[in-house]
Amino acid sequence: MVNVVVNGIGTIGKRVAEAVKKQDDMTLYGVSDVSAGQGLRTGLSPEGGFHGTDLYASNSEGKEQLEEDEMHVEGLLEDVLDEVDVVVDCTPPGIDKSNKENLYRPHGVKAIFQGGAPDDIAEVKFNADANYSEAVGEDFVKVVSCNTTSLSRTMSAVDEAFGVDEATANLVRRAGDIPQDGRGPVNSTIPVTEVPSHHGPDVQAVMPDLDIKTLAVKVPVTYGHVHMVTVELENEASEEDVLEAFRDQPRVNIESAGEGFDSTAKLHEKMRDLGRKRSDMPEAAVWEETVTVDDGTLYWIHMVHQESIVVPDSVDAIRAMFELESKEASIEKTNDSLGIE
Ligand SMILES: NC(=O)c1ccc[n+]([C@@H]2O[C@H](COP(=O)([O-])OP(=O)(O)OC[C@H]3O[C@@H](n4cnc5c(N)ncnc54)[C@H](OP(=O)(O)O)[C@@H]3O)[C@@H](O)[C@H]2O)c1
Repeated sequence: MVNVVVNGIGTIGKRVAEAVKKQDDMTLYGVSDVSAGQGLRTGLSPEGGFHGTDLYASNSEGKEQLEEDEMHVEGLLEDVLDEVDVVVDCTPPGIDKSNKENLYRPHGVKAIFQGGAPDDIAEVKFNADANYSEAVGEDFVKVVSCNTTSLSRTMSAVDEAFGVDEATANLVRRAGDIPQDGRGPVNSTIPVTEVPSHHGPDVQAVMPDLDIKTLAVKVPVTYGHVHMVTVELENEASEEDVLEAFRDQPRVNIESAGEGFDSTAKLHEKMRDLGRKRSDMPEAAVWEETVTVDDGTLYWIHMVHQESIVVPDSVDAIRAMFELESKEASIEKTNDSLGIE
């Protein structure tokens, strides 16, 4: 069993901690933070998703703060790292890098970082569908951002089946996550004025041969990004062929606007109706009607639930780094445990 600590229990960390706890080939050894945010308090509470897990402090000021917050702290993360195999670092950008240099590297502990971490934090930028094998045996891996994860999943499906000559994606991004009410109220559409935006190179970190350019804006919503994608195909494909390629991708769902799922709000409601915890949707959702092929050019629109899409890939990254399973077996195991069909 691989001993895992999740460090930084916010939007991503609390979900990763719960996901790790559900796996039968790894143990959630502990969670670690520097203060008792709502996610940490709820997760450790008797009904919480990681109740009973030991809590560590990521540094001595954090230990003082957690104790002041009346949390039971087992001790400093640093003092138990020799018993830990891997830390999934879900701390805010900037802290990840100092954690790598001051905690993980000196203790010889493997670590997984998230999308906001600097690119040079790990040689391998990871998406389970697109490049699982590159993380095999690695000590440090960065799971790419929510936007990059959805583009890597969909692009790798299309590229493997038909070849991608070049691609353009227009990204409409949420202004903030649901608990990030400090970012709002927002009544504005904010363009990323750097053109092309950084999202294209982010996808190329996972799929280096892909010719992709991206543009992005931010809009005042909290549940989900939407991407509008145009691809010049290398080989012929019909719309049905493309839908089939997406259906074969274990973390892409096809949703029908005609059946009533014609907006991000309707998909949000679908997740609530299905009883998905927190209305999480770790699959990328492609709107069926938008999949169009015209004279060798493929178009589609998909939705990304930013808070949950990177969670299954974070679990698969652990399996790859410890050579526990093949790509297909890991994806299947993770999907089964998280209810992804
Ligand atoms: N949110 C998304 O939609 C999303 C999607 C994909 C990837 N990501 C990436 O995931 C990473 C985490 O983002 P997030 O949205 O989960 O952030 P978040 O909600 O702000 O959570 C970060 C957590 O880390 C804690 N923390 C701060 N300093 C720490 C330290 N020194 N040691 C341990 N924990 C510390 C924070 O505590 P305090 O609250 O007390 O500061 C908070 O609990 C980032 O790289 C981000 O870019 C985020």
